[in-house]
Amino acid sequence: MKDITNFTPLRWGILGCGSIANRLGADIVRLGDHKLQAIASRDPSRAADYAAKFDVPTRHTGTNAYTALVADPDVDLVYVATPHNFHKDQVLMALAAGKPVLCEKPFAVNTAEAEIIVATARKAGLFLMEGVWSRCFPVWRRVLECIAGGDIGHARMLYSDFGFRAADLGPDHRLTGYDAEARLFNPSLAGGALMDVGVYPISIAQMVFGNPVDVKAVGVRGNSGVDENVAVVLAFAEGQVATATTSLQVTTPSTTTILGTSGRMEVESPWWRPKIFRIYRDGKEAERIEFEHVGEGFQFEAMEVASCLREGRTESCVMPLDDTIAVMRTLDAVRAQLGLKFPMEGC
Ligand SMILES: NC(=O)c1ccc[n+]([C@@H]2O[C@H](COP(=O)([O-])OP(=O)(O)OC[C@H]3O[C@@H](n4cnc5c(N)ncnc54)[C@H](OP(=O)(O)O)[C@@H]3O)[C@@H](O)[C@H]2O)c1
Repeated sequence: MKDITNFTPLRWGILGCGSIANRLGADIVRLGDHKLQAIASRDPSRAADYAAKFDVPTRHTGTNAYTALVADPDVDLVYVATPHNFHKDQVLMALAAGKPVLCEKPFAVNTAEAEIIVATARKAGLFLMEGVWSRCFPVWRRVLECIAGGDIGHARMLYSDFGFRAADLGPDHRLTGYDAEARLFNPSLAGGALMDVGVYPISIAQMVFGNPVDVKAVGVRGNSGVDENVAVVLAFAEGQVATATTSLQVTTPSTTTILGTSGRMEVESPWWRPKIFRIYRDGKEAERIEFEHVGEGFQFEAMEVASCLREGRTESCVMPLDDTIAVMRTLDAVRAQLGLKFPMEGC
């Protein structure tokens, strides 16, 4: 295996040239010790546009684009930026080529897939991380320190939301007028609110409280079969409770509140790429804590990946693989209660 603990810069290979690849690319190009080295897309013109926009030296295109990318000797890290149903095979392909991998959320379609991927990476001794970028922001690192330091007493409850209006609401109270093939609505692409954005409040609740001992979910599935409006309640071992709401029908406030026995913390909207949080200690003035950043903030995830690689770590302690699997278990439990199975799961 190539030693990349000493790289400068870290050379990224982007697998899939869609929306998130562009958003992440815009933040990575500002980092001096990172380089967008190669882009892989089935579509040559999409790859050409991306390469021109971000000064990317290598384009892999056509039907063999992804295999060429993972085999590219100039790529240090593969970033899997495709819809959820492709993650497992593409991550396994990159690992088989000996490459460390950052894979977009949700990590896989279900726990069984996630366990296969994680076991493969661990056996190969290769770095692997789920791209839950929210966890990497300085705000969330400081919030965890404040909780551990007892700033709000014992943290006991959390509520968090992430939803957006993705189409119009029809007379049957289900979404209408959308492209049923599109990623968000297509069961074959493991779409739906939960998998697309509901994973965030669940992941953040589990980051704060650990793995849930009970999961309860209610929600509505739409005409394409995927979930459109969901509320999840999580219970934890020491009696803590969290609620996570997600939607494709409405745009939610995108705030997270953590309540403790002597105060609360509020992470300002959008909590999933935050700049500000406030600590309300009982009987005291609120304290406002701000971490300014440029761009959207994908640089924090990139920096976490780079520091793991530099230190020779195969897992991130910000987004550990055991947490990734635990979150997948919760997603499975929620989907089971909604009666939502994806076609690749044999429904
Ligand atoms: N971190 C975040 O804030 C964030 C935000 C949005 C999305 N995401 C995650 O990022 C991943 C990609 O989302 P996205 O919105 O970027 O997706 P997207 O734009 O719809 O698709 C990304 C790429 O995946 C490939 N692809 C898309 N549909 C395909 C299909 N039907 N068959 C084969 N390949 C297909 C295409 O690659 P080619 O270029 O090769 O054709 C496409 O360019 C998902 O896991 C999503 O949950 C994360």
